[in-house]
Amino acid sequence: MTILVSGGAGFIGGNFVLDWLVQHDETVVNLDKLTYAGNLDTLQGLRGNNRHVFVHGDIGDRELVSDLLSMHRPRAVINFAAESHVDRSIHGPGDFIQTNIVGTFNLLEAVRGYWDGLAEDEKQGFRFLHVSTDEVYGTLSKDDAPFNELNRYEPNSPYSASKAASDHLVRAWHHTYGLPVLTTNCSNNYGPYHFPEKLIPLVILNALSGKSLPIYGDGQQIRDWLYVRDHCSAIRRVLEAGKLGETYNVGGWNEKPNLEVVHTICAILDELRPKADGSRYSDQITFVRDRPGHDRRYAIDARKLERELGWRPAETFETGIRKTIAWYLDNQDWVRNVTSGAYREWVGKQYEVEL
Ligand code: NAD
Ligand code: DAU
Repeated sequence: MTILVSGGAGFIGGNFVLDWLVQHDETVVNLDKLTYAGNLDTLQGLRGNNRHVFVHGDIGDRELVSDLLSMHRPRAVINFAAESHVDRSIHGPGDFIQTNIVGTFNLLEAVRGYWDGLAEDEKQGFRFLHVSTDEVYGTLSKDDAPFNELNRYEPNSPYSASKAASDHLVRAWHHTYGLPVLTTNCSNNYGPYHFPEKLIPLVILNALSGKSLPIYGDGQQIRDWLYVRDHCSAIRRVLEAGKLGETYNVGGWNEKPNLEVVHTICAILDELRPKADGSRYSDQITFVRDRPGHDRRYAIDARKLERELGWRPAETFETGIRKTIAWYLDNQDWVRNVTSGAYREWVGKQYEVEL
């Protein structure tokens, strides 16, 4: 059996592929465009593993996706591929519209064509799982209840609007064409292989290299944090037992203001890697101009996933953040390649387009 994963050279997709190949005996076809966020170093341990087939390509390339589907005949497609960084979506929304909306549309159409042609039993067993975000629900004030699956969509950034649009397309392909879809809406992930434009890896790496730790606005914005491998286990569970056409919120029950997250990282680094001059990493904290349209609070009610499918996260923020910091300290080659830009020199590496 085979699954097709898109965006599997990114942060969450990469963790998902690595975990999947340990836990299952199925093959993974990994389709990734290798944008700045795609990093083949993350998949280095899979070289020579014939159950991992890497394909360099775009989810928006319908012909390529259709060929891959008819060649590998996957029993499921899991769509991680996206432009994912809110700040980039503010500076340049075009790629977000192209990949997150038009790309998802083309992927859905290719998958629909493949699924239509399957034999009845294969058709029944097939799944399209769309990986989405809690940001589609907009922002909460301090005393609001956490987002559940019935909350209205009120996206506020070009990124979240493009993800919301993709969720609507996935929903419509189920209701109109019967495509067997599942959607997950997850909170902020953190963990190994996270690209250092996002808060947690940026703070760890800036702290270690003596740079400032930029806090947007007053730093009191709240996010719910989930260790990435817990997100991967939730996706596996939804794929296995989720009800067709349903959406599942995924969260860590770990709401924290940004400033507290940054202070926690600094305190752990003070302990694990004390500075030679005796100063504290928190001395590097700098308050900077706020992100335009910055959502104040996200919080996830993940009780549906627990009640219906028995999923709960394994990590607390305290255990997950220690593992994450230790990973960045122990994986200097990955860090060096990502910060120098060397990770982009993927041409000529062993991976090739599989067509
Ligand atoms: P990421 O930016 O680290 O990785 C995205 C990957 O998709 C990269 O490997 C990139 O090369 C690839 N990609 C981009 N455009 C593509 C295209 N047109 N065709 C094929 N591949 C393409 O993102 P991430 O943080 O791993 O997020 C993965 C998914 O999970 C996204 O859909 C994101 O919206 C969603 N999500 C992320 C978080 C989070 O905290 N990071 C939380 C909830 C949901
Ligand atoms: O909620 C899920 C979303 O989480 C995902 O859908 C997105 O793909 C993912 O990027 C993430 O979005 P955020 O905007 O919440 O993540 P980011 O790491 O960019 O920022 C986290 C918080 O920290 C946010 O309130 C902005 C703030 N921040 C961020 C950076 C990069 C800072 O204060 N300083 C910074 O330098």
